[in-house]
Amino acid sequence: MQSKDYLHSLFGCQGRKAVVTGASSGLGAAMAGVLASAGADVLIVARRAERLETLAAELQDCEGAVHTFSADLSDSSAIASLAEESQNQLGGCDILVANAGTANRVRLETMSEEDFTAVMDLNLKAQWLLAKALFPQLCQSAAGRIVNIASIYGLGASVVNGLGAYTVSKHALVGLTRTQAVEWARHGITANAIAPSYFPTELTETALEDETMSTRLRSFTPQDRFGQPEELATALLFLASQASGYVNGTIIPVDGGWTAW
Ligand SMILES: NC(=O)c1ccc[n+]([C@@H]2O[C@H](COP(=O)([O-])OP(=O)(O)OC[C@H]3O[C@@H](n4cnc5c(N)ncnc54)[C@H](OP(=O)(O)O)[C@@H]3O)[C@@H](O)[C@H]2O)c1
Repeated sequence: MQSKDYLHSLFGCQGRKAVVTGASSGLGAAMAGVLASAGADVLIVARRAERLETLAAELQDCEGAVHTFSADLSDSSAIASLAEESQNQLGGCDILVANAGTANRVRLETMSEEDFTAVMDLNLKAQWLLAKALFPQLCQSAAGRIVNIASIYGLGASVVNGLGAYTVSKHALVGLTRTQAVEWARHGITANAIAPSYFPTELTETALEDETMSTRLRSFTPQDRFGQPEELATALLFLASQASGYVNGTIIPVDGGWTAW
């Protein structure tokens, strides 16, 4: 077999249908491009419709088709509509990349109940509801794949004060991933997570543009630099691949060695 055919048989996504949330910016936009480039038809989801349309136009030369759906995933009725949209626009779902997320920076002793709940609602509850809504379609797939985007702060506490709610939500997302892996294995679905360290996006720009903070964060990274969104491509394709069917319930840090200390 030619090496390109071999790699295609392992990692190609032709004919696969993917939903990527939080695709209007940052890591989600990059991961949508990865899947479309690998041949998947992708439904990109976020609140900012114009950003989604711009990304879809940028990706129009990819092998996979890119469709858009604007939704606020904090709203459970929007999640139900998203599942309908996936069925209507893609004809089902083989790969769910549950990436939309948020953070606020308030210390535990001063955080309001409302702020804590908002983070948990999107970073945890919406991820469960979304996978639940897409579960019938993932069951129909020959190789259903859930890739949850957690964080190094799903594996340990934040080195920055004020990210308590975010850290709790990402730890819980790791728990959700492992539970999905266990409960849905018999349906032919695998569930894994990627745990990134710091990557420059809208979510992290305030922290990374602050020189003192940026230096401190790099000091926790053996490779002494932040990641680039395209550096998630290989982990994503690995977990989304039909050939990775025996990889289930794992959390893969893509973190320049942060969790290796
Ligand atoms: N960047 C990092 O260093 C890093 C590290 C570890 C983990 N992560 C995780 O990676 C994921 C993506 O973050 P990012 O860094 O790429 O940040 P980002 O650029 O701010 O992207 C967040 C995405 O989520 C969407 N979103 C936010 N609230 C939403 C809602 N209520 N409904 C629907 N979509 C919503 C945003 O789109 P709209 O505003 O258009 O809705 C945006 O597309 C998050 O789960 C984050 O926790 C990031």
